[in-house]
Amino acid sequence: SKIKAFQKALLTWYDTDGRDLPWRRDHDPYHVWVSEIMLQQTQVNTVIPYYNRFMDWFPTVTDLADAPEERLMKAWEGLGYYSRARNLQKAAKQVVEDFNGKWPRTAEELLDLAGIGPYTAGAIASIAFGEPVPAVDGNAFRVFSRLLEIDDDIAKTQTRQVFEQVIGTIIPTDRPGDFNQAIMDLGSSYMTAKNPDSENSPVKAFDQAYLDGVEDQYPVKTKK
Ligand code: ADE
Repeated sequence: SKIKAFQKALLTWYDTDGRDLPWRRDHDPYHVWVSEIMLQQTQVNTVIPYYNRFMDWFPTVTDLADAPEERLMKAWEGLGYYSRARNLQKAAKQVVEDFNGKWPRTAEELLDLAGIGPYTAGAIASIAFGEPVPAVDGNAFRVFSRLLEIDDDIAKTQTRQVFEQVIGTIIPTDRPGDFNQAIMDLGSSYMTAKNPDSENSPVKAFDQAYLDGVEDQYPVKTKK
């Protein structure tokens, strides 16, 4: 089927050309979670050294829960959006105290942790626990709107559900985390916002907006 062919093209590319990033070396939920929070508002290349030092200073979720506030703020200095760091520690305490150190394993349950919204819940559930759920961030909006010429306005709150529903029918049950991360890599290489290189993309045959020469029209986003 077309979906199977798309999954295969995407994951074959990811296996050879996916980025080698420190938080991709294992599927530890603590590693996945910290990286996803840092990546919410900060570029990959900036995050890498912060992530590595953070894991040096706070190797486990318990170390983070017990960290002195001053040390936590020092670890975050320069990343900005300090509420992310405060929520990170709050969620670490939730995992240690409310869940006895056992992570919630589904996107739905992960939403109960401080600082975890639908995107981050989907990323952790799929990457760390293999749940076949989408992780819809700006990359996913852009990539899927172009692939499928989805015309829904991404400035509208309800549009997330449209994308989640569509991606839910495409995400492979055997490699959901790799699939979501491959979409992120595609969105930062061949399918960027400003200078896409669609003609060389590993999924160009599935990129309807490229095939129709209308990539610049996606994603549809009105000013609020
Ligand atoms: N941006 C958000 N999450 C990411 C991840 N896991 N890998 C690369 N870029 C990302």
